[in-house]
Amino acid sequence: MEMETWNHVEETARNVFQAFGYGEIRPPIFEAVNLFEKSVGEDTDIVGKELYYWVDSPRSNKGLRAVRRRAKLDGGQVSDSAASARSELIKQADCGSFDALAEADLVALRPEATVSVCRAYIEHEMHALPQPIKLYYMGPMFRRERPQKGRYRQFYQIGAEVLEALQQGQGGAKDIPKDAAIDAEVIEMVMAFFARLGLEGVELDINSIGHNAPNCRPDYVAKLKAELEKVKDNLGPDSQRRIETNPLRVLDSKLESEQAIIATLPRLADHLCDDCAKQYAEVKRQLDLRGVTYRENWRLVRGLDYYMRTTFEITAKGLGSQNAVCGGGRYDGLVELLGGQPTKGIGFAIGEDRLILSLQEAGKGALAQGRDVYIAWMGEKTLAAAIGAAQELRGAGLRVELPPVEQKVGKALAQADKIGARFALILGEDEVASGLWTLKTLATGTQEKLDKVDMMEFLKKAKSSPRS
Ligand code: HAM
Repeated sequence: MEMETWNHVEETARNVFQAFGYGEIRPPIFEAVNLFEKSVGEDTDIVGKELYYWVDSPRSNKGLRAVRRRAKLDGGQVSDSAASARSELIKQADCGSFDALAEADLVALRPEATVSVCRAYIEHEMHALPQPIKLYYMGPMFRRERPQKGRYRQFYQIGAEVLEALQQGQGGAKDIPKDAAIDAEVIEMVMAFFARLGLEGVELDINSIGHNAPNCRPDYVAKLKAELEKVKDNLGPDSQRRIETNPLRVLDSKLESEQAIIATLPRLADHLCDDCAKQYAEVKRQLDLRGVTYRENWRLVRGLDYYMRTTFEITAKGLGSQNAVCGGGRYDGLVELLGGQPTKGIGFAIGEDRLILSLQEAGKGALAQGRDVYIAWMGEKTLAAAIGAAQELRGAGLRVELPPVEQKVGKALAQADKIGARFALILGEDEVASGLWTLKTLATGTQEKLDKVDMMEFLKKAKSSPRS
């Protein structure tokens, strides 16, 4: 039952994203650790604390069966080769030999997919294709977080990215209107997707976190840090630590006792450079043009290092404390950081588990699996006609249940009702002989006889959408 909701959500995503000109990409489930370190950031929770990683070198990867066999006791004695196999296993388990290994030997289950999309963009030379490249993906991500409602160690994301290599003469202030329009359309698309699903209580927060130039974010971060030092003693241990590692993240704090202090801190919007301020204003104008309602949230800084300028987050109803269903933002420069040429980027990822939880809480999740037609056949002589009808209707895309053995009519109709069929096609020997078949509409209980050809045409036209 639940999978129907998942399939419906994914199918709707495909339809909406394709309508905006996006194509699908399937990035790998694991990648080299250094890819995430470089981009998401070594000091972020996602990479610093939550990564599922392991050693993957020719040395450690001898094949589990061979290593296990060698590690077994040999006639009650631990042979030399078993001892070395054992120490290999132990080493692998506690990762004691990390320093000796090349960085590429560490791999991790992906905690997110933006970075993999950027890597694919570089490796497949997508900069040579007509720009921008618009891609979407869906699949599992992994973070070793404390599980709770809406927060899992394996969770699913539906995401999209727009990448655009800078051509000669591009870049700088003259790109601001174009970049802002792309940002606004990306946000418009995710809001259109949520609207199509009927997601309730959707709220969009936006912000600009400036860019990494001396007259912009770094200048603000220095001021913020100085202010935080002054109130340090009144902050909790997490925020105290973040003053050193990443002062911006203090703004993210949900701790009740810190809220009044945070409200007095300087705001990044007042310290943006001219270009970033212009871009932010243009994004807001473009959102207005598209009829997208938003709330400005100066404390929205996001937990990944690669962002610049536009950032956004979307919350929905019924999720408790883990109520962010989508997060995203602009990340110009990330492709270059990973070894590609100067490239702009913006995207988002939706937490699919949370999205589905919210739909379910609003009573929009449990979509009846249902069938269109239940074929109630009675008497061996009707079986061939019943099989023929099932084949024809299934061929036309209807969901048909054909019981493997004949049933009494009462039992068949009860079963049809129980599994949520819309129609029961009643085929007794009389019906097959006369060519006049009986159709019962289960919701109303009405029953009618129709010529079998007309009956088939009627049923094919009544083909339901996957949601009904
Ligand atoms: P993120 O904010 O880390 O961004 O994750 C996006 C969404 O994934 C969150 O808003 C949330 O709905 C869901 N999510 C995250 N962690 C969990 C979890 N442990 N359990 C359930 N759901 C979770 C990113 O991942 C960026 N890559 C988004 C992006 C794409 N930015 C630009 N392009």
